[in-house]
Amino acid sequence: MPHTEVERVRMGIDGLDEMLSGGLIRGTIAAIVGTYGTGKTTFALHFIWEGLTRGENVIYISLEESEESIVRYMIEKDWDVEPYRNTSFFVLKLDPTNFNLSINSIRNELPSLIRKFTATRIVFDPISLFEDLFESDSARRYEMFRFVEMLRDQRCTMLMTSETDRDNPYSSRHNLIEYLVDTVILLRYIRSDELTRVRLVLEVVKMRSSAHSREIKPYEITGDRVQVYSQANLF
Ligand SMILES: Nc1ncnc2c1ncn2[C@@H]1O[C@H](COP(=O)(O)OP(=O)(O)OP(=O)(O)O)[C@@H](O)[C@H]1O
Ligand SMILES: [Mg+2]
Repeated sequence: MPHTEVERVRMGIDGLDEMLSGGLIRGTIAAIVGTYGTGKTTFALHFIWEGLTRGENVIYISLEESEESIVRYMIEKDWDVEPYRNTSFFVLKLDPTNFNLSINSIRNELPSLIRKFTATRIVFDPISLFEDLFESDSARRYEMFRFVEMLRDQRCTMLMTSETDRDNPYSSRHNLIEYLVDTVILLRYIRSDELTRVRLVLEVVKMRSSAHSREIKPYEITGDRVQVYSQANLF
């Protein structure tokens, strides 16, 4: 398909959409990988809010935060999310400690939920808690591969977040999701003797079938937005 015909789905984050040549490709799966506090949930909520304001239906699958805390965070950002709740914005809170319930409810119910709500954007935050549930690396590989294949069939644009490996801030916790998804955005901290404060930086590590920036760019999370300084040169 010629480049110009690819439909882009904006994430709603200034600077980042430009680094992605206009946004995620519709129907693809992206992962945001980052250490705690780097803004994974915030990025995911921007993606959700962008969809809502464009008239899309969205599902937020939370393995960590409650629906109340997600909605409170959006309202703090001055996003009037209430009118969308349970009409075009659906939050599904899963209990990651209950393995069978979590894995079965996602696998069995998600396709019908997506159809029922005619959802076009889905978030999993964080998918790493889901990955933690498997007992062995081989079971995790096999099941996550099947899971992502099932997600692909849904034709929604999806965003997963993943915590990083304890010893490697460049890798997701199980070093698996990067291989399965189409787009990987890495969030991390930079601490150095030359800097008087910790900087947050991001990079687009991969994006299948698309041109994208390979530069490392600083970003800031403020009360109402995320700003990626895509024109700034850090080094
Ligand atoms: N109102 C605000 N003003 C400035 N910074 C904020 C504001 N709200 C959140 N932040 C920043 O965003 C960070 C939290 O972002 P977020 O919860 O999205 O991170 P996360 O990567 O999802 O973290 P975790 O791994 O713990 O889930 C905070 O640590 C803080 O630095
Ligand atoms: Mg989070």
